[in-house]
Amino acid sequence: MDQPVVIVNFKAYSEGIKKGEEIARAAREINENGEVFVAIAPDFIQLKSLVEFAPVFAQHTDAVNPGSNTGRITPEMVKASGATGSLINHSERPLILSDIEFLISAFRELELTSVVCTNNIPVSKAVAALTPDFIAIEPPELIGTGIPVSKADPGIVEGAVKAVQKVDGNIMVLCGAGISEYEDFVAALDLGAKGVLLASGVVKAKNPGMKLKELVGI
Ligand code: G3P
Repeated sequence: MDQPVVIVNFKAYSEGIKKGEEIARAAREINENGEVFVAIAPDFIQLKSLVEFAPVFAQHTDAVNPGSNTGRITPEMVKASGATGSLINHSERPLILSDIEFLISAFRELELTSVVCTNNIPVSKAVAALTPDFIAIEPPELIGTGIPVSKADPGIVEGAVKAVQKVDGNIMVLCGAGISEYEDFVAALDLGAKGVLLASGVVKAKNPGMKLKELVGI
């Protein structure tokens, strides 16, 4: 993939339910333009219905096999929904190491894309050894603050990119937390990130579709 990547995580924001389709339609428009690749990570309720507009990621998948497991989301369910992949180990939905490994392997098998979230450089380096498709570094203390990681803590982004590339040059590194303006997005790319993972800056905006387009500079 040549273009920068943006993943919009709806989290459990009520705005994400009300304006999910608006965001998905904006993502489609941006993808048609071709300069930036935008995917969305809606709540599970909207997952299947938004697949027609843009590449969709689950916000979480459980490390369980199909069968006698109640209230779980298996990798196979994510595949059946038409999603492209899933966020794994988001700091708001952390997993143990063996579950992260289970999911990365299951996703590879099912041809789904794995985006593993990490909170610092050593964890990013450790996760790189499991060879996910993406690693998204997000310092938890900046999440939802509007203070962009790419400006507030450029060292963590550069450090994670270097550490991950050293382990496996094929893994793409995203950064997230507080990204809400075009300049934050550009700063992330300048630091060597492949793109950004973001939520509140777009999902909670008054006009989230327009905001998303502004954010990617289209
Ligand atoms: O998954 C994205 C996220 O945790 C960053 O959230 O609201 O700071 O963009 P936000």
